[in-house]
Amino acid sequence: MPHYLKTRPGTAKAGQHFAKRLQALQQQARAHAWDALWVVQAANRRYTTGFSGSTGWVLIPAHGKPLLLIDGRYQEQARQESPHVSQVVYSQDPFVCLGAYLRRRRLRILGFEDEQVSVGSWKRLQKQVAGLRGKSASGCIEAMRMCKDFVECRHIKKAVFIAEKAFACVLPTLKPGRREIEVAVQLENAMISAGGQGAAFPTIVASGPNASMPHAKPTQRRFRAGDLVVLDFGCIYKGYHSDLTRTIGIARMTNKQREMYKLVKKAQVFAQKELFSGRFASEADEKAREIFKKDKMDQYFVHSLGHGIGLEIHEAPKLSQVSKERLEKGMVVTCEPGLYFPKWGGLRIEDDVLVEAGKAIWLSRSPGEIPIIGRK
Ligand code: CO
Repeated sequence: MPHYLKTRPGTAKAGQHFAKRLQALQQQARAHAWDALWVVQAANRRYTTGFSGSTGWVLIPAHGKPLLLIDGRYQEQARQESPHVSQVVYSQDPFVCLGAYLRRRRLRILGFEDEQVSVGSWKRLQKQVAGLRGKSASGCIEAMRMCKDFVECRHIKKAVFIAEKAFACVLPTLKPGRREIEVAVQLENAMISAGGQGAAFPTIVASGPNASMPHAKPTQRRFRAGDLVVLDFGCIYKGYHSDLTRTIGIARMTNKQREMYKLVKKAQVFAQKELFSGRFASEADEKAREIFKKDKMDQYFVHSLGHGIGLEIHEAPKLSQVSKERLEKGMVVTCEPGLYFPKWGGLRIEDDVLVEAGKAIWLSRSPGEIPIIGRK
C-alpha cells in the first residue's frame, strides 16, 4: 500500500471543510446580492453538506444557518452525514415547504442552478412566493469543486488505488475466449472486493473491431488472439471517482498494433507535461494532437484529452481545444488520448493526474509497452 494511504491527517473536526465551503458561498451570495442560494444538483449538495442521498435541496441564505431540505426517508442519513446544517423534513410538497421558508424569512432574490432546475420547477416555486426573482448561479459551486483539498485528494487517490489493484487481479485471467461483458462484471466485482463503493460508470470492455468506438458497450463477443482490448473503468470511494483506461493485446500483436500503442503512450506522456498550474487547459490537448499530427493520425483522435474527476465522473475543467480555464494547483484530471479506426479497432490510455505548481503528478501509471496477455 502506498504511503499516502497509511498516513492519517490531523483529525479535522467533523464538518469543518463543509463549514468553510458554505461560508465561501454565503460570501458569494452577499457579493451578488442574492438573498439565498438554492442548490439542487446532487454533487453540489454533497459538496456543501456531505449529504449523499439521492434527493434533497440545500438552501444557503446570505446570512444565517444553511438548511438541508429532505423527505422522511433521509432523516437518519442526514443526521449522520450533515450534523452541521439545519434539517427540514418535508412531508408532502417540497416547493410548499421551501416557499413557506422563503416567505417567512422574506427571501426574494434567489441564486439558483438555472441549468439544472426545470422551467416547471421554477414556476412551481414562483407560485409559492410572490415577487420571487431568480438569478443564475450555475457553475459557481462547480468552480469551487475544481480544486481539490487534502481530504478530497486522498479519497481520489484511494479510488485510483482500488481500480489499479482490481485491474492487476483481473489482468492475468484474460485470454482468448473470455467474453467482454463477463470481464466487465469481473472488473466491477474486483473493485468492490478491493474496497470500492461501486463502479464509477458502466465499465467498458471493447475487443477487436468493437474498440473503434470510444464508448462501446460490452457485448457477448469473445476475445480472439490478435485482438486489442480497451478496458475503461473506475470506482467510487467516499463519493469520489477514479477513471482509468488500459489497452492490452490478446495472445499476439502485429507491429502496427505495437506502434499505435507507443504513439498513444507518447501523446499521453507529452500531454501530461503540459499539465501544471498557470497553463491553459487547452494546451495539453493541443500537444497530444500535435504528436498525432506528425504521424498523420490526428483525425483518428476523436475526443478531447481529458476531464476533471471528483464527486462526478466528468467535471470541470475539460481538457479540450475549446477550454478557456487555466489549470490550478489541486485540480485532478484524466489524461486519455486514443486512436480509433473503424473496422480495425482502437486504443486508449487513460491515467489520472494531480495538477501542481510546476508539474503534474501521475496518480496512476499505465505501462509504456502494450501488455500482451493469454499467450499459449
Ligand atoms: Co475519462
